[in-house]
Amino acid sequence: MKKCTVFAPATVANVGSGFDVLGFALCDVGDTVHVKKSSTPGLVIESIIGANNIPSDPVKNVCTVAAQALLDCLEEKQENGYSFIITKEVAAGSGLGSSASSSAAAVVALNELLGSPFSRHDLIPFAMKGEALASGAEHADNVAPSILGGFTLIQSYEPLRVVNLHYPEELVVTVVHPHVEVKTVDSKRILKQNISLKTAITQWANVGGLVAGLAQENFELIGHSLHDVVAEPTRSMLIPMYEQVKIISREMGGLGCSISGSGPSIFVLTDSMEKAKNIADSLESLYMNNFISCDVYLSKINKMGCQVIQ
Ligand code: HSE
Repeated sequence: MKKCTVFAPATVANVGSGFDVLGFALCDVGDTVHVKKSSTPGLVIESIIGANNIPSDPVKNVCTVAAQALLDCLEEKQENGYSFIITKEVAAGSGLGSSASSSAAAVVALNELLGSPFSRHDLIPFAMKGEALASGAEHADNVAPSILGGFTLIQSYEPLRVVNLHYPEELVVTVVHPHVEVKTVDSKRILKQNISLKTAITQWANVGGLVAGLAQENFELIGHSLHDVVAEPTRSMLIPMYEQVKIISREMGGLGCSISGSGPSIFVLTDSMEKAKNIADSLESLYMNNFISCDVYLSKINKMGCQVIQ
């Protein structure tokens, strides 16, 4: 095998109360990375399609940084090199795991080319190196669902322990991405570094409730447990029309709604495609009427994670 192309889905991280620990993968939207073996040693970014603000210097690009982390862990060192073509569909600074999709696709494609020395789980720490480059934090809540698919919980970072969660098949998500850029690094910086015991109790009760709600397919419990008292109070200030989105989604039968990753995208969970579609139409109108352009996505949870295309 001399070349490999992989699609890695966009993701919704945090999922309300699960700051830095919960995430799920979306269908149809994601980045694609094509990796080719070359006779020249080293890593090269050949081209980046669909974005013009992404660095092509291999030490500054999340794909090549993640790929290098993988190569550094191989027992047998490579004499050849690899070149990368990155097709970006997930906008940087959207809150939909843009850097994670690229990092995930890069390590899965490179691993395929190498004859799969690593399992999908093993690839997560390599992709996390891309996240560290992008946001200064090695968080796995986007890369884990992008690589593995489904709904994941990072139960522990040291050691890294990722749990695939059960969730109801009927779950549908509406995501609205208002076109204002919020950099993860900035949106991490504004978070309070200390929280009160009362806040912590509320948050961990909600994370427990959310995991239980998913496992029991209890939509009411899922809705109650999305509430985030840690990141949402500060981050929501960076998102235009946030309160209105919450009110509309609640009135239209959404189970609950919160910030996707570090924002500005907002996700709404529902138990039917019809409700999700109606909410999507209303949110699109809300932003249009306020002269803010936006993208809207409707998706089931993507079970597959990264997919090898060729
Ligand atoms: N857990 C990360 C954060 C996700 O909220 O900063 C970033 O997509």
